[in-house]
Amino acid sequence: MTASAKGSPEEMITGKKMRYRKAKARWHPSMQAIPVPGIRRMVNLASTMEDVIHLSIGQPDLPTPEHVIDAYVDALRAGQTGYTMDAGLPELLEALRDYYGARYDRKLEKENILITSGATEAMYLALSATAAPGRQFLVVDPSFLLYAPLIRMNGGEVKYVSTNASNGHQLDPEAVIRAMSDRTFAVVLNSPNNPTGAVYPRETIEAIVEECAFRGIHVFSDEVYDHMVLDEGEEYASVLRCTADLDHIMCISSFSKTYSMAGLRVGWVISSQGAIKKLRRYHMFTTSVANTPAQFAGVAALRGDQQLVHDRIQIYRERRDRITELVQHTPHMEGYTPGGAFYIFPDLPPHVDANDLCMRMLKETGVCAVPGDAFGDSCSNSLRFSFSAPTERIEEAFDRIIPWMKKQKLG
Ligand SMILES: Cc1ncc(COP(=O)(O)O)c(C=O)c1O
Repeated sequence: MTASAKGSPEEMITGKKMRYRKAKARWHPSMQAIPVPGIRRMVNLASTMEDVIHLSIGQPDLPTPEHVIDAYVDALRAGQTGYTMDAGLPELLEALRDYYGARYDRKLEKENILITSGATEAMYLALSATAAPGRQFLVVDPSFLLYAPLIRMNGGEVKYVSTNASNGHQLDPEAVIRAMSDRTFAVVLNSPNNPTGAVYPRETIEAIVEECAFRGIHVFSDEVYDHMVLDEGEEYASVLRCTADLDHIMCISSFSKTYSMAGLRVGWVISSQGAIKKLRRYHMFTTSVANTPAQFAGVAALRGDQQLVHDRIQIYRERRDRITELVQHTPHMEGYTPGGAFYIFPDLPPHVDANDLCMRMLKETGVCAVPGDAFGDSCSNSLRFSFSAPTERIEEAFDRIIPWMKKQKLG
């Protein structure tokens, strides 16, 4: 091959560069908003190790109820393997309408509900259909890792409102209101919160929802842990309890946590009929419909005996009490009592890099936790333990962690 056919060294370099640029240009620039959380490296490492105790899991370890599985299998056997209506299976829309109507004593129509592939799709639809340049979203820091990237991918701006372990990661409604400006388009709420387990009382939700209504700001409320309120006698403060009008509200939830159905992928959005109509059309262009037999399983979950939900809460409560105690006895950790979900998010001393500490903890003790920076900007010295594991496993994990932490010189 001649030099000219091959190209001069400069051309070759340029060609390489062009090829490199082309490879980089394959993805839409918005893909840069998707973070690569440290947890991936840890899970990869954990998969090569033996005898790992995972306190990193974000889904229930308790089994899916038998009657729910039966309904799923029965639906398959009955030939329910086609698409449902785009808004969702009519029987499930009715079951959700009745269930929410009874729970919060408020009248909903089927047209207020859209069935989605888990709360993840619901949140994806809500955020990506509204986030845009010039629109600011107030997001709690730390919070579930989905929200901020979805907002940023669509050009929206994320403004964090921080919470702290020192007051159990409670959200100060005044801090949220102070953070509002003319540019604020929406507030994203999540109670009980992942990763902190904080449950916001009714006064907090009401104060935020009322201020938002007054200013025309939207509220997206992720309520997937709505049944996982672990303090006895505490009434769950859904946004649906705190407003008469759904115009600025999207309430999002799913079957994943309450009924241990994470892999069945059924969730929903509740909002005004106008908003649901709009989202329904968008849903047709994303996943079109949720899994059909899983929607039948959802009907069985809602229409079946709810005692199992209460029994499970008791199990999570006992684990919560035990892990809170164990964190309290762990050197260098500042804990608190999480009111809900199945997470606790203790602080390490301020200068400690939790990514580094979690990695060493995994290598040296075999316990896998999630470093805090997966959940926001203010928590690089925190880590998330999940108590979606039997109490004996949690105790075994802390039998390893406590002596190991004693040896750490963290100042
Ligand atoms: C706060 C929060 N929202 C949403 C989800 C996703 O739920 P789904 O399985 O319904 O998509 C999770 C899962 O961990 C979560 O923790």
